[in-house]
Amino acid sequence: MTDVHREAMALPEVGAMKRAGTKIVMVTAYDHPSARLASEAGVDLLLVGDSAGNNVLGYETTVPVSMDEAVMLTSAVARAKPRALIIGDMPFGSFQASDADAVANAVRLVKAGADAVKLEGAGPMLARVRAIVGAGIPVMGHLGLTPQSATKLGGMKAQGRTAATARQLVSDARELESAGSFAIVLEAVPAKVAAHVTEALAIPTIGIGAGPNCDGQVLVWHDLLGVNEGPAPRFVKRYADLASEIRRGLEAFAAEVRSGAYPADEHAYKISEEELSAFEADLG
Ligand code: KIV
Repeated sequence: MTDVHREAMALPEVGAMKRAGTKIVMVTAYDHPSARLASEAGVDLLLVGDSAGNNVLGYETTVPVSMDEAVMLTSAVARAKPRALIIGDMPFGSFQASDADAVANAVRLVKAGADAVKLEGAGPMLARVRAIVGAGIPVMGHLGLTPQSATKLGGMKAQGRTAATARQLVSDARELESAGSFAIVLEAVPAKVAAHVTEALAIPTIGIGAGPNCDGQVLVWHDLLGVNEGPAPRFVKRYADLASEIRRGLEAFAAEVRSGAYPADEHAYKISEEELSAFEADLG
């Protein structure tokens, strides 16, 4: 889809993984080094999530993220030429107003290097999914807790906890599948409900706070690697403590600069004695 030459995983492999019972691994990536590292670690899908808003751009939520920011982050990830597929998240306001907007903005993400796009919601958004898929761009759906509409959902809360809302989730997921989505993120949904949604679909589900029976799992880079500290949603598991390691490195650098231990001789460039004498003679 892009003009960046790379050996990428083929999109049909994602559906094949569900059929083979192989779990799909997705992480967020917002820049070149994280895309490279995640791909080297064997991650299958990189989500250039609008969670960049609260994880790297300093916003309180995902809502302020703009298309220009999403394009910039997606292109940084794409320049790493990962084997993992790149999913560009469509920010709030980039697809809600019309099918034409949705297609134009999905095209921008693809031109920036995304292999597919993700958008939140079903209902009125199904037409957007059909329009983008109709334009030849693969779409990942996103149901359950959809942070862009957290106000409408009553806050950042688990969804599908009543029989009626669980039924609605299954029906929305089926409709997203019929609209042409190739996979669906299920966020903050009871594990047993997510298992039923997963069972009901031929396309894979990727869970975040949706229990072990989804076809894959996704976590936010800064959560899973412990760049973020303090309280986190219950589904977050920290596999590293990068915040402590980064702080330790920065404190050591500051201490050595202040004591004069850095830079040492091996960090400095040399000039020959002859050139130095000539230079110093010129100085008088
Ligand atoms: O933006 C994001 O990181 C997401 C994940 C929570 C799935 O949408």
